[in-house]
Amino acid sequence: MAFVEKRQDVNLRTEGNQMEQYAIKGGNPLVGEVEIAGAKNAALPIFAAAAMTDETVYIDNIPDVRDIDVMLNALSVTGVMVKRVGRHRVMVNGGNVHNLTVDSEGCKKIRGSYYLLGAFLGKYKCAEVVLPGGCDIGSRAVDQHLKGFRALGAEVVIEHGLIKARAEHLRGSHIYMDKVSVGATINVMMAATLAEGMTIIENCAKEPHVVDVASFLNSCGANIKGAGTDVIRIRGVARLHGTDYAIIPDQIEAGTFMFAAAVTKGDVTVKNVIPKHLESVTAKLLEIGCEVEEADDCIRVVATKPPMHTQVRTLPYPGFPTDMQPQITVALALARGTSIVTESIFENRFKYVEELVRMGADIKVEGGDTAIISGVPRYTGASITVPDLRGGAALVIAALAAEGFTMVDNVKYVERGYEDFHIKLQGLGAQIELVETEKDFQKFKLKVG
Ligand code: EPZ
Repeated sequence: MAFVEKRQDVNLRTEGNQMEQYAIKGGNPLVGEVEIAGAKNAALPIFAAAAMTDETVYIDNIPDVRDIDVMLNALSVTGVMVKRVGRHRVMVNGGNVHNLTVDSEGCKKIRGSYYLLGAFLGKYKCAEVVLPGGCDIGSRAVDQHLKGFRALGAEVVIEHGLIKARAEHLRGSHIYMDKVSVGATINVMMAATLAEGMTIIENCAKEPHVVDVASFLNSCGANIKGAGTDVIRIRGVARLHGTDYAIIPDQIEAGTFMFAAAVTKGDVTVKNVIPKHLESVTAKLLEIGCEVEEADDCIRVVATKPPMHTQVRTLPYPGFPTDMQPQITVALALARGTSIVTESIFENRFKYVEELVRMGADIKVEGGDTAIISGVPRYTGASITVPDLRGGAALVIAALAAEGFTMVDNVKYVERGYEDFHIKLQGLGAQIELVETEKDFQKFKLKVG
């Protein structure tokens, strides 16, 4: 397959309005029920995997967020047919791919674009994808992806900002991941799905979205066993077929609303969740003094008093997720006593702390990976800026608990990963609005009083 320079971005939705801000008046406990969307971090690789068959694939329960639009645009530029058949349902047909170079500006900004490497390398034995961006939370190496592709027989180089992978044949191999990586596990698993023979990947990531991608591929005819454990075994198949698949609920969105209940002393039920995926989050909520009730597909969190202090270390699944680290820090900053939060996955994930301190938190970050938190009785509203997706969501929660008004800038980051975030919060009684100008903010202040 030749590399073609053709560009035809399908504008599934325009880029976020750079001026958008959240105007928030804090102080209301969040109360009610909230429906959780499909998992963004499962949907991104599943879109890439959907292009590995020439047959039509339907994917359901996709979240309507900006990163998804960027990924769908990237697919359409390669010639994959992408059609939204509902707000949360997409049809994908990869029968007419004509361009194996993925290098649009949008793709540089999202991490998920690198899943096209594994998908296209598996199917076409050739792929070129721009070195991915995503949230600025650390160096975010790709060496384990490259190591896996090479073990399958591909030649891989990084040139002119692109990762280029090419192989005559892909052959099954025994691969030991030096680092537990969600992205590398999924990427290598995808390529190995269409390799010749058996691949064994050891020291895999076990996150629910790794399992979801394997389940999706199996529903297309792949032969993948062991996803969700340390060792994944993939017997290569010659081709994949179409399917109709629903993505798992987003455990990080759910966890974010669960901590919003804890921080605002509220009573929130998250619906359409898989409680098993949230065990580490639930355990920490219980530890800090919340009541947590689980049913088949929902979890209720009730908080009636300030949180208790504790210690947390982020770890690969089933440990406490790095994507929930800012949210628990926001809760612990209101606890009596001293808490310690250690970030062990990414080097640079405490950027939001600076903003939280402007709201009255007493937190010191030491060595880049440890936050020493001395609890304060309350936050106070301030003008703050979102540094990244999860840090942004956590700052919004802090603002909802704060005394007075907060203006949150740069909310496009939050909208990359949370569907209708402010609307869902409004449904729980939050006083939050999307505004564009200082004048709008003043109007909001007058309205809510
Ligand atoms: C995924 O990132 C998620 N992104 C992240 O979510 C999430 O925080 C992360 O997994 C951990 O759960 C997507 O799914 C798009 P990793 P990923 O590879 O795949 C190191 C969010 O907020 N590493 O598991 O990039 C790496 O530097 C985002 O939704 C290597 O050293 O994460 C990191 O320290 C942010 N070499 C650690 O492993 C490699 O080749 C884990 O990274 C690959 C990774």
